[in-house]
Amino acid sequence: MRTVRVAQLSDTHFLEADASPEGGFAYDTSEAFDAVYAHLEADEAFDLVAVTGDIADHGRVAQYRQAAAAFATLSAPVNICPGNHDQHAAFTASVARPTVGTSRAIDLGNWCFLFADSNTGVMVDDGSGHLIDPENYDDRLHANGSLGQREASWLREMCATTTADHVFIWVHHPPAPTSGLSADEAYEAEWRTLIGDLTNVRGIGGGHTHIPDQYTFENVPVFVAPALKNNFDLDAQTMLPPGYRTYEFADDGTISSTVQLTDDPRWPRHPLGRAVTSLLRGELTWAEFDEIVARKQARS
Ligand SMILES: [Fe+2]
Repeated sequence: MRTVRVAQLSDTHFLEADASPEGGFAYDTSEAFDAVYAHLEADEAFDLVAVTGDIADHGRVAQYRQAAAAFATLSAPVNICPGNHDQHAAFTASVARPTVGTSRAIDLGNWCFLFADSNTGVMVDDGSGHLIDPENYDDRLHANGSLGQREASWLREMCATTTADHVFIWVHHPPAPTSGLSADEAYEAEWRTLIGDLTNVRGIGGGHTHIPDQYTFENVPVFVAPALKNNFDLDAQTMLPPGYRTYEFADDGTISSTVQLTDDPRWPRHPLGRAVTSLLRGELTWAEFDEIVARKQARS
């Protein structure tokens, strides 16, 4: 058996020309992808590039075309799962190309990589058993993860039936993130119920928070990748340049992972204001944050 090398991109938030980013402030994500591409392609060869959601900023077909064209330039095969910014129908119809897939499970060496959908619990049955996005776009966009019974059952079944020695789960929303703004009690409870039974799961790789991180959840290591849209360091209280993660999956079930940042003068590590830091930590609500910003603007 051999060591499996994977690069993880997350939160690429591709935009079509002249479109504005959802929520305002963002890096030019095409420029960020080009910088990440140059960094990644200069590294050793990868067996796979995993992309963990928020592929398109508004979930539009034109944005998936941009994303798929960019991903197809990578030397390694690419496989992706959706995030809360993605829209199920457009994602499903617009992404796949010969080297860019939306597979749910990929075996490499003695590892099984599962690509979970942490938006499944907010989706609705269309009456024929198929899940579709909720009518209100914001119901999916503003959710901080929900597996629902279907996705949890699928994870149980896949872990129980795989012939691989080790399982790693790629998913947009990491369970119990350390940044409070992205935390959700119900989602955390779903994972707490599940994870103890998935005894062959050696780790989880997510995104969503735009805060690169590594922590342990119920004795399982959780790795959070940098984003391409904007990126934060809550300890240093600064912005971060765009980046990605690299992983080595050893045949004994151990994982080593490193955050790779495209340190570049185009993305300086600007200090974060106190209010932004408090917002990201979950100490302020969006309403309280907006009030502070409005007060500051009125004073200036
Ligand atoms: Fe995102």
